[in-house]
Parts: sequence; structure tokens; C-alpha cells
Amino acid sequence: MTSGTMTNSGMTIITLDGPSGSGKGTICQLLAARLGYHYLDSGALYRLLALAAKRHKVALDDVEDLAVLAAHMDISFRMNSEGDHPEVILEGEDVTDQIRSEDISAGASQVAVIPEVRNALLERQRAFARPPGLVADGRDMGTVVFPDASVKIYLTASAEERAHRRHNQLMDKGESVSLAALVENVRARDARDMNRSVSPLVPAPGAVEVDTTGKSIQEVLDIVMEIVRG
Ligand code: C5P
Repeated sequence: MTSGTMTNSGMTIITLDGPSGSGKGTICQLLAARLGYHYLDSGALYRLLALAAKRHKVALDDVEDLAVLAAHMDISFRMNSEGDHPEVILEGEDVTDQIRSEDISAGASQVAVIPEVRNALLERQRAFARPPGLVADGRDMGTVVFPDASVKIYLTASAEERAHRRHNQLMDKGESVSLAALVENVRARDARDMNRSVSPLVPAPGAVEVDTTGKSIQEVLDIVMEIVRG
């Protein structure tokens, strides 16, 4: 089946791509809730693969075993009991927090450069497209996974602001990592995501770019809703 038939089946697909810390996750969840659409957190799939590889002692450069793991890992997503936050499940265990560690973040961006891994995850991502619609969050949603999406948005923010946001998140969780180290991590991850040969992080043709630097979540959501309505 081509991506065209996948996305032209009478449902709306909205893609939001951009670097980590640009606010995509929060905005996508709010947007999906507002529109009553499904939500795909594609980054979580790469994070789950990094965690599954660690657990099954698969090296992060073992292309063959990583591709098999990507195609077959036992994962699911569900809403938490309060119904306000998605939970990520690996082999029956809630790993929502574990996949957000700095260690797994680095592992995710390492496995994400492997074409065989990206290929193995392609159909798993497309399977999230179900009526009435989907909000897809990632790096290559508008360029590769859903090239025929109805609305494509590219969110950015300065590296310093993104590192600050990450710093605040970690502080809230009681983890202390220096801000300088986080700016370094953000830059290293950006470079890896933007310079890789497969599915590099670039705005999709026709994507509307939104710079979230200095903007509140509500301000960004308003801008994005305006684009979707347009
Ligand atoms: O979005 P998030 O930060 O959770 O993604 C984790 C990592 O997965 C990113 O650093 C990126 O390398 C990779 N990724 C990707 N393509 C996507 C989503 C995430 O390569 N569509």
C-alpha cells in the first residue's frame, strides 16, 4: 500500500515536526485532545527501541538485531487513569518515565540513524492513522511517514531555550544535570538528526514554520489551531 492510499482515506492527518524541546509533544497532545484525534508520538518508538535493546542486550550498532527488535517489540500506548497523559508500555510494563532519561534519549537518536530501523518502524507508525484523524509528532512525519498529510507544521526554538525547558523538566523530576551539558546534548542531537542520510530533520515541503522561542504553550497552541483551521 502506498503512503498516498494510507493518508487519503477520508481522515485528516496533521504532522508536527521539529527538534527536541521545540514543544511538539505538549502541543500535539493538546491539539489531538482539542480535535478528538489520535496521537502518534513517533519519538517514543525510537526511545522504546533503545530501552528494549538495553534490556535484551542488543548493541546500538547491531543493525540486524535492532531491525528485528523494532519490527517485533511488544509495545502499546494508553491514557493514564486520570485521562490526561499518555502512558508508554513495553512488554506489559509502564516505561513512560524510563524512556525520558538522558541515557535513553541518546540511545534513541543513535538507533534513529539506521535505515533498517526506520524502515521497520514505518508501517508501525502508519498504523496509527485511524478515523477521525491523527496528530503525528516527530522529525520526518511530513517528509516520509505521512507525505500526503493535510496540514504540516514545523516547530522550532533556539537551542538555549530548548535546553532550559529540558532543565526545568529534569529539575521537576528531582534530577540534576548542568544546563551547559544540556545545551551540548541538544546541539549534538540536533546535528545527528539534521545531518543523517536517512530522513534528516528538515521542514517538509509546504510545512508552516512556527518559532516557539519566548512563546507560552497557549500562544503556540493558538497559532497552530489557526494554521489547522486555515
Ligand atoms: O521526539 P523525541 O525527542 O522523543 O525523539 C527521540 C529521538 O528519536 C530523536 O532524538 C530522534 O533522533 C529520533 N526520532 C526520529 N524520527 C522521528 C522521531 C524521533 O529520528 N520521527
